[in-house]
Amino acid sequence: MKKVKLKVPATVANLVCGFDILGMAVHDPYDEMEFKLLDTPEIIIKHQDAFGLPEKASENVAGIVLLKIQEHLNLSHGFEVIIRKHIKPGSGLGSSAASAAGAAFGANLLLKNILSKDEMVHFAMFGEELASGVRHADNIAPCLYGGITLVKSADPVDIIPLNAPQLFVAAVHPQVEVKTSDSRQILKKNISLKSAVEQWGNIAGLIAGIQKNDFSLIGRSLHDVIIEPVRSILIPKFDEIKLKSLEMGALGGGISGSGPSVFMLTEQKETAEKISQMMKSVYDSTGIESFVYVSKINPSGIQIVEEAYP
Ligand code: HSE
Repeated sequence: MKKVKLKVPATVANLVCGFDILGMAVHDPYDEMEFKLLDTPEIIIKHQDAFGLPEKASENVAGIVLLKIQEHLNLSHGFEVIIRKHIKPGSGLGSSAASAAGAAFGANLLLKNILSKDEMVHFAMFGEELASGVRHADNIAPCLYGGITLVKSADPVDIIPLNAPQLFVAAVHPQVEVKTSDSRQILKKNISLKSAVEQWGNIAGLIAGIQKNDFSLIGRSLHDVIIEPVRSILIPKFDEIKLKSLEMGALGGGISGSGPSVFMLTEQKETAEKISQMMKSVYDSTGIESFVYVSKINPSGIQIVEEAYP
């Protein structure tokens, strides 16, 4: 029986100023996914976690991706997938992208690498669409490519993998609900030319800083004049956490994806650890439960843990 086991990482979308176009893979948290290739055409999804997600293939983020791949390739095979999710749905840490990208990656391995990475991104976006109503690739791309990625275009898919600087990421997930669909709904539909010019400067500066390993330039570019001022009101203690993190030596940071998680980039692991403790204590003092994660930028994305092709 052909089977594979994967570790599928969380991702931080937007990277502050790059709404829907930039994203970065981290090591922690991650989901575990096990795939078997079936001789029959069923798509069987089993969740071994506590999130109560639908298991019917057409209603499951991984399931819909497998159905689309199966249909596109006219496969007589099916798949069984066991998912142990540790990235909480609705965290802003790319939980749906992990299921979607993991499904495309796992199926592709079992099908002897029949798909290119950009084709995997294309199919994985059906999972994002099911989860939030929008086909965005800024979490899927870093999950599949690793490191930091630029979505030059989502349709047609054109992903540019960028450098993965040796930086640390401190992230906090406060236990408040922010749905991606809601936090997209509240965004302004029109922006001023002045804001656009400022944002272009920051995005270009951030990409240049990433490619040149210029940490000061990365820090100076991690500013968002369009999305963060609107969305941050949905995240309790956002301003306090950001200010304290910068005072403690973070290069910069902001909302992870559509929130409510908040992330900060640092040069030193100790700084990231201290910031994560501060993040936790800010939420503890307000009675909001939170989870914190510290890891390096993950340069390789999805990891194959086990493969068997007898
Ligand atoms: N770019 C998306 C957004 C990411 O900010 O809505 C959602 O995880």
